[in-house]
Amino acid sequence: MSIKEQIDLQRLPRHVAIIMDGNGRWAKQQGKIRTFGHQGGVKAVRDTVEGAAELGIDVLTLYAFSTENWNRPKYEIDALMHLLVQSISKETPTLMENNIRLATIGNTDSLPEKVAKNLKKAIEKTAGNTRMTLVLALSYSSRWEITHAVQRIAQEVKDGTLQPEEINEKVISEHLNTSLWPDPELLIRTSGEARISNFLLWQIAYAELYFTQKLWPDFRREDLFEAIVDFQHRERRFGKTSEQLKSEHA
Ligand code: FPP
Repeated sequence: MSIKEQIDLQRLPRHVAIIMDGNGRWAKQQGKIRTFGHQGGVKAVRDTVEGAAELGIDVLTLYAFSTENWNRPKYEIDALMHLLVQSISKETPTLMENNIRLATIGNTDSLPEKVAKNLKKAIEKTAGNTRMTLVLALSYSSRWEITHAVQRIAQEVKDGTLQPEEINEKVISEHLNTSLWPDPELLIRTSGEARISNFLLWQIAYAELYFTQKLWPDFRREDLFEAIVDFQHRERRFGKTSEQLKSEHA
């Protein structure tokens, strides 16, 4: 049985998030500069997006550029931004063909004008697509996102439109960049690192974490399928006991 056939399509995670890691090491292994790895990473993005859409995943979020990534050497930032502009323009027709909507989370105001402009164009063009939403986390960090949510909530309290006792988990979720989508149920990180790196800290409270040794440029849809099969073998208890879950499903 192929890995895809092992997936129970009735129990897919609705939202999968991926920390794409290992581009630099992949390039180094081949004696190339780091930016070569990011170019290789685009292929992995394309195949993974197609694989997720083919299965019927509702939302796929990719950590493409973190707030901390601004500290990288200028040549690498420039190359990544150039790659983003290029990939977004080049891939928009494929997004349209596959009925995929593009969205972003993060501080997009801090992106170079050309990237922001291209993104806006692609987001507008794909806005009516309904099969899957591809969310790119760009200049994103979870603490930045939570800080901004708190600022907005505080402002509403100050304006009198929200009472402090009305602040609950739902209100907080609604003030995050991800307010439109369900929380990720599966978080994948490539390259053998077992860290969260300031990604969706609030939203992954109950997500299953999946770490693979594969470096991002080598990641393909079969690797996504393997992660989903692994996810489906896990027992998600949400704080309950195994016995409680079994009696609920009996
Ligand atoms: C992490 O590898 C990867 C990134 C910081 C960038 C990810 C970007 C892409 C895959 C290309 C463009 C994306 C889209 C959405 C078109 P690393 O550089 O940290 O690798 P290392 O840990 O081996 O140094």
